[in-house]
Parts: sequence; C-alpha cells; structure tokens
Amino acid sequence: MMYDAEYFLRFVKIFAEYLAENREYLTQLDAAIGDGDHGINMDRGAKAALERLKSANPTTPGAVMRTVGMAMLSSVGGAAGPLYGTVFMRMSISFGGKEKVDDRELVSALEQALLGIKNLGKAEVGDKTMVDVWEPVVKFLKENIENGGTLPEMCEELISLAEERMKATIPLRARKGRASYLGERSIGHQDPGATSSYYFFKSLCEAIGGR
Ligand SMILES: Nc1ncnc2c1ncn2[C@@H]1O[C@H](COP(=O)(O)OP(=O)(O)OP(=O)(O)O)[C@@H](O)[C@H]1O
Ligand SMILES: [Mg+2]
Repeated sequence: MMYDAEYFLRFVKIFAEYLAENREYLTQLDAAIGDGDHGINMDRGAKAALERLKSANPTTPGAVMRTVGMAMLSSVGGAAGPLYGTVFMRMSISFGGKEKVDDRELVSALEQALLGIKNLGKAEVGDKTMVDVWEPVVKFLKENIENGGTLPEMCEELISLAEERMKATIPLRARKGRASYLGERSIGHQDPGATSSYYFFKSLCEAIGGR
C-alpha cells in the first residue's frame, strides 16, 4: 500500500481523538507514578497539531509530520513534548519530500523515530517508558517487512503486541523520568507514555481503513 498526506492526516486525527477520549485516563496513570500531566500534555499537543494542520495545509507525508512535530515541541512540554516531537520530526525527515511512501519507507521512518526517542531519553526496554512499546513493535514490523509483509496484514498482531507490551510495564520498576524517583512504589502501575504509544500504533492501523 502507498501512504499519502491524506493517510497521515487521518492518522493524526485518530490519534488526537484517542488522546482526547483518554485524557483523564492518561492523567490518572501519570498521577500514580508521575505528576499527573501526561493526558493534559498530549491532548493539548494534539489539539495544537490539528490547528496548525488546518492553517498550514501540508500536502506531503513529510510536511504533515513536520507540522505535527513542531506543534508537539512547542506546546506539550515535560518529557513527552520533546520525545513525541522527535518522533514526528524524525519521521518527517525520513519521508523527505516524497508525495507518497510505501510500507518499507513507513517502517523505516518508525525505526528512525525509535532511534530518536532512545537518543534523547537514553531509556532501554524494561525501564518502564514508551520505549517498552516502541522497541518490540518496531522490531516486529522490521522483521515482517523484510519478509515481504505489509502494514495492513500486520495490524492485528501489531495492536495486540503493543497492548501486551503496554500492560507489561505494570510490574516494572521505573528507571527513567519522574516515575523513577518513586523507586519500588512505581511497581504496579501502567506507564502513561507506553499507553499513549499504544494509541499511536493503534491509530496508524486504524487510519488505513479510515475509522
Ligand atoms: N528518558 C525517557 N525515555 C523515554 N521515555 C520517557 C523518558 N522519560 C519519560 N518518558 C516517558 O514520558 C512519560 C511521561 O510523560 P509526561 O508527559 O508526563 O512528561 P513529564 O511529566 O515531564 O515526564 P517525566 O516526569 O516522566 O519526566 C512517561 O510515562 C514515559 O513513558
Ligand atoms: Mg508527567
């Protein structure tokens, strides 16, 4: 399949809907192990992104992602602002000026986004962060794309994998961000950034059908 600017606009819209619907939930998760702002931060960022998209009217995948990245960087704040800002900016750079990207290019952009997250936050799998969802999902996509798979075919498994990895952050002890200050007390709570990352991948899949 080919993914054009319309696809990425649908993706951003769906992601923004999940963040708005789950604003309180994400905030509760962050209140348990952080400062209770993740839902508010992400919802504000997504709304700012939708506003900017309306006025900028980008026509390529790269331009859509850059517009969103800039909005996230300037309006989300905290740890998630730069981390999600990096995700969208890295994907934009990876797409360049192409009118459409294929499955391989999409997966390669996601791989760049993961590298950006890790470069910035220095978290590894098991630290109870968004990396706990991103790394296994990107690995799964890479392996399958190399064997001729396409995103639409992988989506069902991809969504269950993301959900499983998100839930697997519950028993972990946080080693990065504000949650790490809690030490043992961070155990037993699901990581907010891993949860928003689950919505990110779910949205990527749902944008294929149009939701
Ligand atoms: N170093 C890091 N690497 C990757 N992800 C991180 C890192 N630090 C925090 N996160 C992710 O960011 C989420 C918290 O985002 P939030 O919007 O609440 O920002 P914040 O309150 O500034 O974060 P924090 O207090 O964790 O630094 C965490 O749940 C985690 O998934
Ligand atoms: Mg927070």
